[in-house]
Amino acid sequence: MPFSLHQGDALTVLASLPDDCVDAVITDPPYNSGGRTATERTSRTARQKYTSAGAEHQLADFPGENMDQRSFTFWLTQILTEAHRLTRHGGALVLFTDWRQAPAMSDALQAGGWLWRGTMAWHKPATRPQKGRFKQECEYIHWASKGPVDAARNPVYLPGFYSASQPRKDRRHITQKPVEVMRELVKIAPPGGTILDFCMGSGSTGVAALMEGYDFIGVEKTEHYTQIASERLTEALHASTDRDDYELAGPEA
Ligand SMILES: C[S@@+](CC[C@H](N)C(=O)[O-])C[C@H]1O[C@@H](n2cnc3c(N)ncnc32)[C@H](O)[C@@H]1O
Repeated sequence: MPFSLHQGDALTVLASLPDDCVDAVITDPPYNSGGRTATERTSRTARQKYTSAGAEHQLADFPGENMDQRSFTFWLTQILTEAHRLTRHGGALVLFTDWRQAPAMSDALQAGGWLWRGTMAWHKPATRPQKGRFKQECEYIHWASKGPVDAARNPVYLPGFYSASQPRKDRRHITQKPVEVMRELVKIAPPGGTILDFCMGSGSTGVAALMEGYDFIGVEKTEHYTQIASERLTEALHASTDRDDYELAGPEA
């Protein structure tokens, strides 16, 4: 079974999965960022925060974007604790963040039992310059391990810097990540392993996992984006093999 998708709340779904069932957790949770003040961050929707006024797309909104920093850290700690239980010893966590939430996310991952190993930069070349300011052209990617890294099991040398624009053509999600970046990140898991994304959105991690020969478990709260992820993963699977043995589980919460 190359992939299984669950529609539901991450915490509820992860609690239903067995210990030691994945090799890496690679995820891009709602940042709960995007504003100068707590009021701006907690009163605007994801679309209002992350879509520019001139955007041509009409992509659907998504939930989970209105926590203040303390409750966001508490929420993420609970999920990362469950994700740690699901991960085999030596496995990795790869976690997208922006500059503002980077400290909250490194707190949450360590509180969840992970060993913080470092932070990579994702550079977005198409970012607009801002008069009188430094360009906000990077997001960040924390990574961590469950105990010591097992380099003998996966002797890879991976970059600490990635440069690629958010997809423009065929974009399916407001904060969609580039598959070319995700294809590099999944290589932190040993060949043929299983990768979990508990906030999968349109399924970019899963598409990359299948393209690189991994199995994938995905969780997404909305029915809309679960359906889009299902379509994208089915397409990726058919592009690489003739197999069609996947499961769409849930809704569970
Ligand atoms: C930043 S987006 C992920 C985008 C994804 N990386 C992609 O390329 O499409 C975060 C996703 O998490 C989902 N989400 C928010 N809260 C959630 C929760 N409690 N459980 C599961 N999914 C959740 C949102 O609906 C949203 O689609």
